[in-house]
Order: sequence, then structure tokens, then C-alpha cells
Amino acid sequence: MKSLNVGMIGGGFMAKAHSLAISGVNMFFDDGIVLNRKMIAEVNEEMAKDAARRFGYEKYTTNWRTLVEDPDIDIVDIVTPNNLHMEMAIAAANAGKHIICEKPLGRNSNETKKILAAVEKANVKNLVAFNYRKTPAVALAKKFIDEGSIGKILNFRGTYLQDWSADPESPLSWRFKKDVAGSGALGDIGTHVIDFAHFLVGKIDEVMSMSKTWIKDRPIQTGGLDTLGNKSAENTERGVVDVDDEISTLLRFKNGAVGSIEATRNAWGRNNFLTFEIHGEKGSLYFNYERRDELQVFFAEDGDDRRGFKTVYTGTPHPYGEGLWPIPAIGIGYSEVKIIEMHDFLQAIIQDKECEPNFNEGHKIAQVSDAIIESSKKQKWVKTNV
Ligand SMILES: NC(=O)c1ccc[n+]([C@@H]2O[C@H](COP(=O)([O-])OP(=O)(O)OC[C@H]3O[C@@H](n4cnc5c(N)ncnc54)[C@H](O)[C@@H]3O)[C@@H](O)[C@H]2O)c1
Repeated sequence: MKSLNVGMIGGGFMAKAHSLAISGVNMFFDDGIVLNRKMIAEVNEEMAKDAARRFGYEKYTTNWRTLVEDPDIDIVDIVTPNNLHMEMAIAAANAGKHIICEKPLGRNSNETKKILAAVEKANVKNLVAFNYRKTPAVALAKKFIDEGSIGKILNFRGTYLQDWSADPESPLSWRFKKDVAGSGALGDIGTHVIDFAHFLVGKIDEVMSMSKTWIKDRPIQTGGLDTLGNKSAENTERGVVDVDDEISTLLRFKNGAVGSIEATRNAWGRNNFLTFEIHGEKGSLYFNYERRDELQVFFAEDGDDRRGFKTVYTGTPHPYGEGLWPIPAIGIGYSEVKIIEMHDFLQAIIQDKECEPNFNEGHKIAQVSDAIIESSKKQKWVKTNV
């Protein structure tokens, strides 16, 4: 059986998710490629050694360039904060490695354009980790749309609502710094909804947006992983937040559909409230990631006496069902979604086809994000140029 060696850069939240997917993918999908967790890079000896032990890597390094340049490494998996993606992805492409990079692909479209040029020149497989579109219920929505079950799409409403930073005492991690993150809720969570919109409806042509920074300063977090809102007693000195806490935007799609996106990390009571509702001429679809095994569907042709949404529980008859659990509603989690993402990446290698979503799509999402920022500054409709 063919085997490929993975080098992972970063040892935090996403390293855990990606390492689990690397180790579990063959148990679910049996793609015929063994993935070896070969080397992991972190910022210092203690963190690198600990990450290698916990996530099962043979070797570790404190210099990510060693990993990228190692001839034994076939796949570079980038799970570091956003400001590092460009340098790491370009170096990995230049070294001829296949690349998985966490989202957002870069801090802005100037960066993503350079990353895209590097992978196109190197002709390596490239996947940007907008994993939520891999949820079977989302893939099922795409299938219903492609089959014409809800007809021509009129409206897309997407939200990503969380509350982990609603508390002003939650720390100023890298996610609240423009020089590291690029943007706030927009890049962190809003980009997943832009990905849904592009995947399910089509390219966004124009946006009219608002953005707000509700909490202007936070207790400084020095070093370590982003604690995603978990407070530390040591944080007393405060630093300035220079990114958005929330964005709202109206959308005009190239195909004539309209819609809206809201993303906030300040919505008390909401955890991972990632939703879309899509209205077509012949029906509607609704999805909420907090109930990720379910797709709510309404087909107008069902008749006047049975009007109302019904719930489809995803299972074996549905996308990716062949590899997941044998009974609908046994339930999948974030790990299974990441496993599906890894399976699709391996299939792109095996079948020598483009990954979905690839860096080209990651770049387009960055162009939409840039337009959202520009529109909220100018308070005008702005073209995305995608
Ligand atoms: N797809 C998703 O659902 C999802 C969810 C969370 C995060 N993300 C993305 O994943 C990326 C990482 O986020 P995270 O939550 O894992 O962050 P994190 O803070 O938990 O981990 C980042 C790790 O990178 C390490 N790092 C920093 N500089 C490094 C360097 N030069 N060399 C090696 N390691 C370095 C840090 O020490 C830290 O351990 C971000 O781009 C984020 O937007 C995606």
C-alpha cells in the first residue's frame, strides 16, 4: 500500500483535529494510502516535543523550514495563525510538497494571490480547510440544489454566531490582532459562511456591509495557544483590539440570487451556530451545524396539504455515507468532518484532480472578505472581482 509522510506546522487546536483525521481516515474510508505522522513543528522545544508525543509524530523540530525542506515529507499541513500561512505555503510549494492549509488562506487577497501563484507554478495539490462544507448534510444540500430539487435559487441567508469572546475579560489572543489574524470574526468564522455561499449558490458579485468592534480592549495574552475566551487570572494589562467583533453584509450573487451573512463572536448563548437557509423557486433548505446530522427540507411539489419543513437525518444513502456510521443519526462530530476533508484530499491525490476547496477558492473568499471590509468603511456596495 502506498504511504505518504505528513509534516505538520503548528501544535494547537487545529493540529489536534488534523492529526486525528490523519490517523483515522483509513478506518472510515480505506483510501489505500497510509499517512505517516512524520514530523511536527512548534515554536520551542517544549511545545514541539509535547505536540509530537500527544499527536503521535515520529520527530519534531523548532524550525518549520527544516520540515518543509525534508525530502522525506510529502504533505505539509499548515495549522498556524493566519499571518504565517503565506510564507509557509509558498515555501512548501517551492519544495514540491502537497499542501493542506487552514483557513483563512491568508490575511488578505494580496497574500492569497501570491500563495495561489506558488502552488500553480509548482503544480502541487492544495486544499484550504473550509471543512464545514464537508458535513454530509451540507453536501446533501448541494446535491439537492444541483439536481434542481429547489429550483432556481432566490435567497441565501447565512450566519455564524458564537459567544466565546462576548466577555470583555476574555483575553487578547492572536485572533484579536490585525497583524496576525488579518481580520476578526470575518476571517475567523465569516469566511466559512462565504464558503457555503460560493459552494451552494455561486460566486458573490457585490457586498454592502457593516462591521463593529464592540470590545475595544482586552487583557493581553502572552504566548501559548489561543484559549478561545477562557480567562486567565494573570491577564491584567490590557491591549487594543483592532479587528471586527462582528460583520453583517448583504449579498448580490453573479447568478442573480441575493442574500445576507452575519458573523459574530459576541452573541451570548450561541456556540457554533453556523447556519444557512436557502430559498429557491421550488423549495427551501435549512442547516444548522449545532444539529449537523440534520437537513431541513421543503419541496413545494409535495402538495398543499403537507406544507412544512421535514428533517432528513444523514446516513448511508447520503454523501460520504459509505464511510461513516451505518445508521442515520448515530451522530457525527467535528472529527468526522475533518476525516471527510482528509479523505477528499487523498482522493484528489489518487485521482490526480483538484482539491475542493482549493487555494483558488481560498483566494476568492479572501477577495470577498476584502470587499466586505472596504464596503463597511465606505458604506457603499463594493464589487468583489471574483
Ligand atoms: N477550519 C476550522 O474549523 C478552524 C477552526 C479553528 C482554527 N482554524 C484555523 O487554524 C489555524 C490555527 O488555529 P488554531 O486554533 O489551531 O490556533 P492555536 O493558537 O490553537 O494554535 C496555533 C499553534 O501554532 C503555533 N505556531 C505559531 N508560530 C509557529 C511557528 N513559527 N512554527 C510552528 N508553530 C507555530 C503556536 O505556538 C500554536 O501552538 C488558524 O488559521 C485558524 O484560523 C480553523
